Amino acid sequence: MKNYVILISGRGSNMEAIIDAQVPGRCAAVISNRPAAAGLAWAAARGVPTAVVDHKASASREAFDAALAAEIDRHAPDLVVLAGFMRVLGESFVRRYEGRLINIHPSLLPAFPGLHTHAAALAAGVRIHGATVHFVTPALDSGPIIIQAAVPVLPGDSPDTLAARVLAQEHVIYPRAVDWFLQGRLRLDQGRVVLTDEPMGAGALIVPAG
Ligand code: GRF
Repeated sequence: MKNYVILISGRGSNMEAIIDAQVPGRCAAVISNRPAAAGLAWAAARGVPTAVVDHKASASREAFDAALAAEIDRHAPDLVVLAGFMRVLGESFVRRYEGRLINIHPSLLPAFPGLHTHAAALAAGVRIHGATVHFVTPALDSGPIIIQAAVPVLPGDSPDTLAARVLAQEHVIYPRAVDWFLQGRLRLDQGRVVLTDEPMGAGALIVPAG
């Protein structure tokens, strides 16, 4: 059976969605860079091994990346899942896990990379917003896209109401991507996403529907 590790920094609701989805693989560990991450307690209560690699304990970004890689490699994972992991990882770290390192970002990439995506979407006046699961490459929030979910931006939305609508869809698409990967249906081939037996949706999402 394949195994995966999940990296978190905080709440861990995407981690919960993936573990609860009973994807076809074993979660070997949940690793946080922050000792206070709420998701650690949830994972431990589920019997999932947890570890902390505190970025504050490392003298440099490179030292942190090395310590994190050492912890990950103890589990020899087939897949490394970044789920609300709020540290930028260096190029050599990303290269080490190329093709088996995925992330979720709360926007329809390539729109709104970086932080504060929901406020940025509202400021831009977009009608459709969403979330993206992608393979991680050294450039921030720009790796090959695996799956996206779109949600409407509604009158009166605040960054918080929009974030909640997007988060509900994150919990749908991230387990799906992990499931595909662990089934061996999803891979990165020369920088392109290959997904076999892809279920094809039909039609269009138009907002406002009018
Ligand atoms: C999610 O919105 C994720 O897309 C972003 O940070 C948030 C993490 O939430 N990178 P959680 O820790 O999974 O609840």
